[in-house]
Amino acid sequence: MRRHAGPDDWREANRASWDERVPLHMASDYYDHEGFRRSQDTIRAFEAAEVGDVTGRSLLHLQCHFGQDTLSWLHRGASQVVGLDFSEPAVDAARETAADLGYDTDRASFVAADVYDAAEAVPDSAYDVVYTGIGALNWLPDVERWAETAASLVAPGGFLYLAEFHPLCDALDDSTGSRITHDYFSRDAWVDEAPGTYTDFGAPTVHNRTVEWQHPIGDVVSAVAATGLRIEFLHEHDMTMFQRFGALQRGDDGFYRLPADRPRIPLMYSLKATRPA
Ligand SMILES: C[S@@+](CC[C@H](N)C(=O)[O-])C[C@H]1O[C@@H](n2cnc3c(N)ncnc32)[C@H](O)[C@@H]1O
Repeated sequence: MRRHAGPDDWREANRASWDERVPLHMASDYYDHEGFRRSQDTIRAFEAAEVGDVTGRSLLHLQCHFGQDTLSWLHRGASQVVGLDFSEPAVDAARETAADLGYDTDRASFVAADVYDAAEAVPDSAYDVVYTGIGALNWLPDVERWAETAASLVAPGGFLYLAEFHPLCDALDDSTGSRITHDYFSRDAWVDEAPGTYTDFGAPTVHNRTVEWQHPIGDVVSAVAATGLRIEFLHEHDMTMFQRFGALQRGDDGFYRLPADRPRIPLMYSLKATRPA
């Protein structure tokens, strides 16, 4: 089954929710936008190590939010970055930040479009690096179509890099992360109606209806493999970026892990897939 079941208005509902949350995120401690303007680098150490040197390479960031990670790759040496997100306020904020940092649109451009329309929306037909993740795939109903779209934008000799929260987490209880309470293989849309956002759970928001999907690791890897890209690695990580379960402890490196006396499970994963030159 390519398209998972879900309400017809999933895109409109999700976009309204994201549009409303952009200013909240920009003002949040979580994203620390003032700190970003100074450091211009939000890339996690494991991503930098796995992606490698981007000097002189073009990079497309799918589902870029308001562009912090996108602009970080430019700061790290990419020749040109393009960010795509379906939220107009997010794209406007990204453009404003890029201009503030002194980048012209040849170096950093941002387009407002659905990720499934990326091939028609972005300025170039292919990029050396297509980068995405950190809470991106869960907003998409059809992971095969996502993989086809992302892969179609990888230039010869280039690669797709995805870093995501591990879908096993969606099957476990929220407090301990040790009991299986949800179906790992569920294809159903997960419709929620929660005010607030992950940067401020108490924020008084009005567009609260969201529609998400969980994508088992096998579906993601098989979808990428089916595009013809060569999968270089699938890494599973014992740490995550937020308090996913009550039992997680924040380490000095800022990542959250299970306590040392608990058996570990994967909390994130990352994947790299190349197109031969
Ligand atoms: C959690 S954020 C991505 C995280 C990003 N790495 C960050 O923290 O800055 C998810 C992004 O996906 C975007 N998004 C969700 N569904 C989308 C779709 N169908 N097409 C394009 N963008 C989408 C949202 O607007 C949001 O900016």
